[in-house]
Amino acid sequence: MALSKQVFDVVIVGGGGSGLRASLQLSEAGYSVAVFSKVFPTRSHTVAAQGGVGASLGNMQEDHWLWHMYDTIKGSDYLGDQDAIEFMCRKAPELVYELEHFGMPFDRNEDGTIYQRPFGGHTQNFGQRPVQRACAAADRTGHALLHTLYQRNLRSRCQFFVEWMTLDLVRDREGAVVGIIALEMETGQVVMFQAKAVILATGGAGRIYRSSTNAYINTGDGLGMAARAGVPLEDMEFWQFHPTGVAGAGILITEAVRGEGGILLNSLGERFMERYAPNMKDLASRDVVSRAMDQEIKEGRGCGPEKDFVYLKLDHLGADIIHKRLPGIREIALKFASVDPARDPIPVVPTCHYQMGGIPTNYYGQVVVPRGAQTADPVPGLYAIGECACVSVHGANRLGTNSLLDLLVFGRSAGDHVISWLKTHPQQRDLPRGAEDATLARLAALEQDGAGESVALLGDEMRRTVQHHAGVFRTGTLLDEGVEKIRTIAQRAGELRIKDKSQVFNTARIEALELQNLVIVAEATLVSAAARQESRGAHAREDFPERDDRQWLKHSLWYLQDSRMSYKPVNLQPLTVESFEPKVRVY
Ligand code: FUM
Repeated sequence: MALSKQVFDVVIVGGGGSGLRASLQLSEAGYSVAVFSKVFPTRSHTVAAQGGVGASLGNMQEDHWLWHMYDTIKGSDYLGDQDAIEFMCRKAPELVYELEHFGMPFDRNEDGTIYQRPFGGHTQNFGQRPVQRACAAADRTGHALLHTLYQRNLRSRCQFFVEWMTLDLVRDREGAVVGIIALEMETGQVVMFQAKAVILATGGAGRIYRSSTNAYINTGDGLGMAARAGVPLEDMEFWQFHPTGVAGAGILITEAVRGEGGILLNSLGERFMERYAPNMKDLASRDVVSRAMDQEIKEGRGCGPEKDFVYLKLDHLGADIIHKRLPGIREIALKFASVDPARDPIPVVPTCHYQMGGIPTNYYGQVVVPRGAQTADPVPGLYAIGECACVSVHGANRLGTNSLLDLLVFGRSAGDHVISWLKTHPQQRDLPRGAEDATLARLAALEQDGAGESVALLGDEMRRTVQHHAGVFRTGTLLDEGVEKIRTIAQRAGELRIKDKSQVFNTARIEALELQNLVIVAEATLVSAAARQESRGAHAREDFPERDDRQWLKHSLWYLQDSRMSYKPVNLQPLTVESFEPKVRVY
């Protein structure tokens, strides 16, 4: 069956912060750009980012991009690529000022400069003391950023395909990406979109975990598309647990609460972070704080009747600061924990928050696939940015506020690179014959007769499996069992049928397609985590408690086609400065 076809210069899959920053660059340059989003763009998950965007503006105290770079490398447990990290930290102030000039409503200091607050792992002078580096719009920074970018995109006449799910990439015989296949969710119509370049900006896949701060739309669609098209997934064992998800609900309570002076307490009323991170305390990096919380709970010092959470206390900040700097947090605490934080502490637990791994790219956003041990080739016409990409600036653990920065810096950088690519590749390449066959076969399989499993129940089983087998602390036995389970789940996900077709809307089909993507991400996670026999950043193995730079200072790559692992070196060579050699990491 031939699909109807539309043609654009560039297709962007995802309408969150990175997608909108890239689309802006391209549409302002006069190219025809189509942005695909499963939801209205301003409901993309970037809207949920709370605390701030990191940039060494130095508005509150002296700061320097090199200190930011050092903090990011240390935060990454030395797995981050130092060329990309230098690129990001140097560009940060320029990107933030650009956003300010687009109209972003940042909070202000008395002198009119942008307000900045402290965040975990961000320091002055190479680790000496915390620094105020997070540029904030109250506790709704992502919301303000996304609306600012969306309005600017409207002005530049970018074209949005809202409530469309993208299904697959189209590659030609030479391996170049020449378009996508997408499904309109309302009608079920499937359409081919031909393009000279495709940018994946689909965000994270934190919905592989049962307890997650991620939106329900975060189902790893870009990762699934890339993996099906033969692109490996990088460093998928590294998932960030944010220390402060509301216990039982998983909703994010921003780290800005601790940045503004909030503290974590155990059932004995102890400020336990003083023991785990004597210098940075509650503002140590997230992997360190989450492990400390988990340890306190395991050792019986958790709070509540089940002793299964700790408290985040902020009443001492005073109602004025809470109302002015943290209004959204007060609302969340009232709604999801039934406490007014101006009086009572909030019950919190570590909750899956961010995917450090993803589709391998360089700092221009080009998707790069390793060839041999030392070299990597860009996939012509394919880019990935934001949380779905692994550039890798976050390595084994991301610092808070570096995600908004990542999507701005690499969104613009990819936009710029696509512009230069279009200058040398002005023609559309031909679509290969039969490009839609595999996608249509996958859709048809869902519709076949015969009762299938419930998508909801299989999804629940997948989330419980990942939560149990790849949580904050891991062991070889747990991970190996998890790999076995997830492989069975993956096989069952390939055999899903939409039951009782007379009763369902397209959402049933969408949920099944999303689950197929999630399961790919879950398998990549468990297989990569079982293989990495060391502890680094967010990957904490009880059976291998030390970091092992001799054997494991390298990026993992997982291939869907045969669930195989391979590895590539970490880039320890920055662009212009001396490299930061791996050291013992203490806060
Ligand atoms: O805690 C937060 O506000 C989250 C920020 C981030 O993940 O960068």
